[in-house]
Parts: sequence; C-alpha cells; structure tokens
Amino acid sequence: MLLGVNVDHVATIREARGETEPDPLIAAKMAIDGGADGITVHLREDRRHINDRDLRRVRSNLKKVEINLEMAAINEMVNIALKIRPDLVTLVPEKRAELTTEGGLELEKCSKKIKKAIDSIQAKGIPVSLFINPAIKDIHMSKQLGASMVEIHTGLYANAAGRKQISELERVRKAVKRGNEIGLLVNAGHGLKFSNVKNIAAIKGIRGLYIGHSIIANSIYLGLESAVKEMKRLMKQAQNLGFQER
Ligand code: PXP
Repeated sequence: MLLGVNVDHVATIREARGETEPDPLIAAKMAIDGGADGITVHLREDRRHINDRDLRRVRSNLKKVEINLEMAAINEMVNIALKIRPDLVTLVPEKRAELTTEGGLELEKCSKKIKKAIDSIQAKGIPVSLFINPAIKDIHMSKQLGASMVEIHTGLYANAAGRKQISELERVRKAVKRGNEIGLLVNAGHGLKFSNVKNIAAIKGIRGLYIGHSIIANSIYLGLESAVKEMKRLMKQAQNLGFQER
C-alpha cells in the first residue's frame, strides 16, 4: 500500500508570514527519505498555500515518486495539469471558505464538468482519480464517468467515534470492495492519523493512502522523516496483521 504525503501545510506555515520558508520541496524530499511513495499538492484557486511555482518545482525535481496534483475540475486547473504533467490528478470539490476539502465530489450535480476534465486529462496519458464519498452509487458513477481511480473520503470515519465509527468503516470497506470488483483502482484518504490509520490500512484492495495534516503536525514533534516512517510502520503492521479495532 502506497503512502502519498500531502505537503500543503508546509506552504500554509510559509504563507502565514509571507516568508520563503519552510519550503514544500525540501519537505517533500524529507518525506521521501522517510519512505513516502508519493507527494501530493493541492493547487487551490485562491493559492492559499501551494502556488504555481511550488508545483513546478515539485514536478521538475521529483521524478521517482508519484506526484499527485489535487485540483478542482475547472479549465484553469486542467490547463495547468496538462502543462505540468503530474503522475496523477485527483479531482476534488473546492469551496473558497472551507478549511479543508469538506466531502467527496457531487458527481451527479457536476457530472458534465467532471467528465470534461477527466477526458481532457486522460487523453494526454495522465490518470485521473475522483475524490468521492464512500457510497456505492458514487463508485459506479466514477466508473461511468471514465475515471481510472477513486480516492474514498475517510473523513467521516476519522471524525466519528464508537458505533458510528464502525459503521463508517464498514461503508469504506464496502466501497473499496465494489470499486475493485468493477475494475477501479481505489485509494483512500482524509483525516487519517497514527491513532486511526490501522483500520483503513487493514482493508484489502486499497492501492494507496493520501495523508497530510497529521504527518505535517507530527513532524513538529518528531521531524518529518520520522513522522512519515511511523505512519508507514503502522500501515505495514495493519496490513500484515489484518488489524481490526472493535
Ligand atoms: N485527500 C484529499 C482529496 C484531500 O483533499 C486531502 C486534504 O488536502 C487529503 C487527502 C489529506 O487529508 P488530511 O490532511 O486530513 O490528511
């Protein structure tokens, strides 16, 4: 199971002071030294953290790991993706006032613009993943729209507790299973941290986890390399033992 590390919040700290440090590219290299298989950056319309230069530098300096560009399905971003050529594009819903991505794509409501973005990007040989809620209908719709991959939103699982968390975990598990059955590559992410990653990492059929905030937060205590190492260790342990918390 791959681990993609999102370095947006390194840029968030930089932007908090309008400074030149910390540098998301240096952080990305440290994450790779810690075992990250990929680096994710989210280029938002308002450029609140990652900017166009960050994206160019990350792409041109990191050739051996998957560069995943998260973006909204709008013409401006599609044109940037086609120029920069990340290894993967993940389409996400984007609201200007949100603190972080708040949920999966509204596939039915936005099917036209999502399909248009998928077609333009995949026609140039870049696979597209759709960030979706753990719902069977969204799995089917992602396939219909022609996406190669999906990323299942684990935020509802991560934010729930007790029985609710177990039922949210079950929704993720079912969505992964159905995605695999109909030939989609299935990733997962959002809200994952040391304390809750094992239940997700133990699910069979997940290609990769995409994790940002918690790794960057823990890098303050542990250093970034060690924070990534610890996340990978927990993922591996869960996969080997078929970990299940009840
Ligand atoms: N996946 C997607 C599609 C996201 O938008 C984000 C947040 O940028 C993440 C994963 C990572 O979420 P977190 O920062 O909560 O680990």
